[in-house]
Amino acid sequence: MAEFLQMRGITKRFPGVLALDDVHLSVERGEVHALLGENGAGKSTLMKVLSGAYHKDAGEILIEGKPVDIRSSADAKKLGISIIYQELNLTEQLTVAENIFMGRPIMRNRLMVNWRQMAREAQKLLDDLGIDIGARALIRDLGVAHKQMVEVAKALSIHSRILVMDEPTAPLTNREIDTLFSTIRMLKARGVAVIYISHRLEEVMDICDRATIMRDGRNVTAVNVHEVTIDEIIRHMVGRELKEKFPKIKIPLGRELLRVEHINAGKQVRDISLSVRAGEILGIAGLVGAGRTETARAIFGMDRKQSGEVFVDGKRVSISRPLDAIRAGLGFATEDRKGEGLVLTMNVAGNITLATLGDFAKLGKLSLRRERETVREYIRRLNIKTPSHLQLTRNLSGGNQQKVVLAKWLLSKSRVIIFDEPTRGIDVGAKIEVYNIINELILAGAAVVMISSELPEILGMSDRVAVMHQGRITGILENDGSLTQETILYYATGGDRRTA
Ligand SMILES: Nc1ncnc2c1ncn2[C@@H]1O[C@H](COP(=O)(O)OP(=O)(O)OP(=O)(O)O)[C@@H](O)[C@H]1O
Ligand SMILES: [Mg+2]
Repeated sequence: MAEFLQMRGITKRFPGVLALDDVHLSVERGEVHALLGENGAGKSTLMKVLSGAYHKDAGEILIEGKPVDIRSSADAKKLGISIIYQELNLTEQLTVAENIFMGRPIMRNRLMVNWRQMAREAQKLLDDLGIDIGARALIRDLGVAHKQMVEVAKALSIHSRILVMDEPTAPLTNREIDTLFSTIRMLKARGVAVIYISHRLEEVMDICDRATIMRDGRNVTAVNVHEVTIDEIIRHMVGRELKEKFPKIKIPLGRELLRVEHINAGKQVRDISLSVRAGEILGIAGLVGAGRTETARAIFGMDRKQSGEVFVDGKRVSISRPLDAIRAGLGFATEDRKGEGLVLTMNVAGNITLATLGDFAKLGKLSLRRERETVREYIRRLNIKTPSHLQLTRNLSGGNQQKVVLAKWLLSKSRVIIFDEPTRGIDVGAKIEVYNIINELILAGAAVVMISSELPEILGMSDRVAVMHQGRITGILENDGSLTQETILYYATGGDRRTA
């Protein structure tokens, strides 16, 4: 019997890249089907073909055994196909309700939009999902996690038979993930076919039934998730065995390179004090909304500090904008790569050298060659998948864009680097590469602050862990081998036993 959705022989070529090479995918009704593969494997491209965002060069798509013609996102919608993109797709200056009902507003009559009812219905959707957001809030005032939840609500508000989620949980907390998973289970029970893209394989094991694994634009295999182990999946994805997930090194700590005292900024940053020494990785854990990113933004001068002081290498520095921070030797690899981390319309080389341009500019022509060599070295080391260093970053896959953001700061030679969710959206193999490079930074005498929602990563790589809750640090914990996820969660939910 034919499966509900079938994609057969799908081929898609971009200039210099064969993104999809004769790919097939079959999904049943009521199934959660994982689409797995390294960064740049072609997952998002395949889904963009399904959603009508890209035109395929060859191949066919069948629903219930019948060929369908998908030439636009309107065609896809009519067939009941919804997609939540990896790069969020909301209009920042509109409200939550307006975004949810974008393109199909609820009308009072032929000419007038019924704002009140739209807000009410949007609110009901959000409440049903257990999402604590006001329908009248502006998107630009929401954090990434909340924006993602709005995307979910929006997709669910359209009755979909096929729902694609491209890395939906990347910015979510455990509780929000639980909420999302119960929603997915509900959709499954209703017979919706869910296609689920993620680099978090534990989640895949938890929520998915089958998985299609891709590598370099081709099918590797399809497996029944309950019949394989994570390690087997990884082997299919990367084509080799991965040994150590967290290559932690312990080195003697040097001078204190960053000290922050009693910083207050906005509502989310209350009386923050912390310090990091050369050779040290300070993890910052906490639930989404705890104020971790806001703390980094305040230190880096992206948001105004109401009070508090910053010392770099023992000297008090006045930072009121990012340029001050960079001059003082700080770097900040942001979580919001689309907003702040990258210039999408610039090429890969331009982005990588953005923070270090001064260094290369000094020596004129000769340094251009040096710049190109350095850029190529980082492309190779981080395994950034791009036809050349001149490709526009807009055209890279999500994970590869994230690697470009990292390369920029790895190259910057800052003495203190703050990484905000450094491995979000990055595949298992490349994650280890990122940790190795962070290791090189501390070996070279830098101090690293690593904000992360992934507790295994926090435990695997940090020397100490600062845990935040509602804008405050509730605990600074030594990661001496006995620290557990439970202890971190205790502080992250408001526990208050300061130990260091
Ligand atoms: N618009 C485009 N122009 C040129 N190349 C593109 C474009 N979109 C995707 N590509 C290329 O196609 C390949 C597959 O990209 P895709 O985004 O599908 O990867 P992915 O599997 O989703 O990766 P990730 O896990 O990083 O999100 C990559 O090499 C990418 O650079
Ligand atoms: Mg992708």
